[in-house]
Amino acid sequence: MSLISEIKCRFEDVLSHYHDDVAKLLDMLKPSQDEKFGDYQLNCAMALGKQLRRPPREVATEILEKVNLEGICEKMEVAGPGFINLTLDQRFVVAEVKKAIADNRLGVQAASEPKTVVIDFSSPNVAKPMHVGHIRSTVIGDSLCRVLRFLGHQVITDNHLGDWGTQFGMIIYGYKHFSNSEDYQTNPVPELSRIYRYVRRLMDYFEKQGQRPKLQNEHKALTLKLEELNSAEAKDAKEEKKQAKSIRSLRNKIAATESMTVALEEYFSLVQDDADFQLDVKEHQNIATAVLEETARLHEGDSENTSLWQQFMPHCLEEIQRIYSRLNIEFDHEFGESHYHSMLQGIVDEFKENHLAEESEGALCVFLDGFEAPMIIQKRDGAFLYSTTDLATIRFRMKTWDPVLVLYVVDHRQSDHFEKLFSAAKKWGYTEPRFFQVSFGTVMGEDGKPYKTRSGDTVGLEGLLDHAVEEAHRLVQGVNQKRKPEDQLSKDECFDVANVVGLGGLKYADLSQHRGSDYVFSYEKMLALKGDTAPYVQYSYARVHGIFRKGKFDPNQRTEELVSNLNLEAIAERALAIKLLRFEEALQEVLIEYKPNILTNYLFELSQQFAVFFEQCPVLKADTEQQKQSRFLLCDLTARTIEKGLSLLGIEVRKKM
Ligand code: ARG
Repeated sequence: MSLISEIKCRFEDVLSHYHDDVAKLLDMLKPSQDEKFGDYQLNCAMALGKQLRRPPREVATEILEKVNLEGICEKMEVAGPGFINLTLDQRFVVAEVKKAIADNRLGVQAASEPKTVVIDFSSPNVAKPMHVGHIRSTVIGDSLCRVLRFLGHQVITDNHLGDWGTQFGMIIYGYKHFSNSEDYQTNPVPELSRIYRYVRRLMDYFEKQGQRPKLQNEHKALTLKLEELNSAEAKDAKEEKKQAKSIRSLRNKIAATESMTVALEEYFSLVQDDADFQLDVKEHQNIATAVLEETARLHEGDSENTSLWQQFMPHCLEEIQRIYSRLNIEFDHEFGESHYHSMLQGIVDEFKENHLAEESEGALCVFLDGFEAPMIIQKRDGAFLYSTTDLATIRFRMKTWDPVLVLYVVDHRQSDHFEKLFSAAKKWGYTEPRFFQVSFGTVMGEDGKPYKTRSGDTVGLEGLLDHAVEEAHRLVQGVNQKRKPEDQLSKDECFDVANVVGLGGLKYADLSQHRGSDYVFSYEKMLALKGDTAPYVQYSYARVHGIFRKGKFDPNQRTEELVSNLNLEAIAERALAIKLLRFEEALQEVLIEYKPNILTNYLFELSQQFAVFFEQCPVLKADTEQQKQSRFLLCDLTARTIEKGLSLLGIEVRKKM
């Protein structure tokens, strides 16, 4: 049961007499920030007062006279300029907590009208190792899936693998020129990674070479401009100021090109001495074009490249699967880009025939209202694009699953693509499902730039997981050594806990960020035992089980009689109970804007509330046996709510840690 929806229900009828948009008024019902103001606060009387030209307090009083809150609230007050403060009825709270304790779903109701939702997430480009950039889509998408499913919706997860792009041209080219057949036979996955990296390295070299003259020209042009400005005479003080500003900005630009040149030259002097690499540089001058040609040959159905692709794919999938298994992430489907290849020409023809697309400068374009540039669906040379595949994907998903909502969990840098795609889909006739990009920011290093290794390479995802688990292991061992021998974890238990804490910490650190913002990656912060972290929340769970072990309480043995004696008299008991009853509210809120950080925040606050309870309300040393049993029950509901909540984020718990 969602407390907030229950209260809203009671107000709905009354408020509908004041304003057409009742939902907007009801949205002004919020949990109170301070217990002085009761448990919930409704702040709509101020707005209504303005609209009706009546004193807000009078409106608030009138609303309270009309509304029936019997059985839910025991105290209703108008405060300040017209706030309506509501205090939940204690009997209601006790009854609801009893229900939650007895319920496997912890009192959370499943949706009365389940929706069919497709989630497109993770979706890496395979054939190259997964990197830090993939973590966000993967964990955000997985947690949204879990929350939606728990709330009773039908979710289809589809990993839209990039299994058809230029990266295959790269490994095909690399395989033909640089592979070590013995290594490939014995251990294909690392060999394919090596080949990919090597081709990437060569291509980077030529790209950098191309940057050299560009940078030089830019530097020349900027210096000339600066000289001009320096010798120009200003007419008046205003112009002088303007000039000084331009000079400063030019100098900054010059400095930037200079430091880029230094970095570039440093790079060239480093690779200079690599004789083997220099030999390959000489022999593969045209690598960029050659790679595109290999890709094109694959797309045209060339038999050699097709059979190489078929040979490589299982290895590429094995590589990403290893990471998904570690992260405990599964997909219903993995329809990658290659799945749609045969449908693309048909889609393009359909767009042409229905005058949805026009030719412009040789390319086939969909012009969309509100966008300057069109969406190109076929290039002049006949090649299809990312957007063409995404249109085919929409059609396929609609035909196969008929969803009412499709979520794309993809980096904010692709927002332009998705805005156009959704607009084009509408033009095409898909007005019905809601398409939504669950976009997110970048993972940053502590230097405030996108997270890279010291040498400037992208950070591999696997190494990241390894490191998080290693760090966690160090911490777990540190804590463990300080324990009495009889309380110590075994060696295996230490490894197991480290895995749960390390991976949990990593996921939580990501999910607890507002998804739209960039965030700074820090092992230290994500594994801290205090603060808004997985280990803190996981530890609250373990703490409850520590109490159970000491008090010899077995939560599986709870009887109806025990539950009927539940008592929430102490302030901290009541506060914890109300927080527990807000679980459903938090889950519903996650789905408003698809923000898992609402759930992490709820679990963090729940753990804090539990700590307050634990400090103020002795459990093992309770005054009476009945009070002790009642507190055990509250501890148990807390642990189960944490366990369930974390599991919806894809994070595990352990009873001992
Ligand atoms: N493979 C793409 C990338 O790595 C992401 C795909 C997202 N999903 C989609 N339907 N476009 O950038």
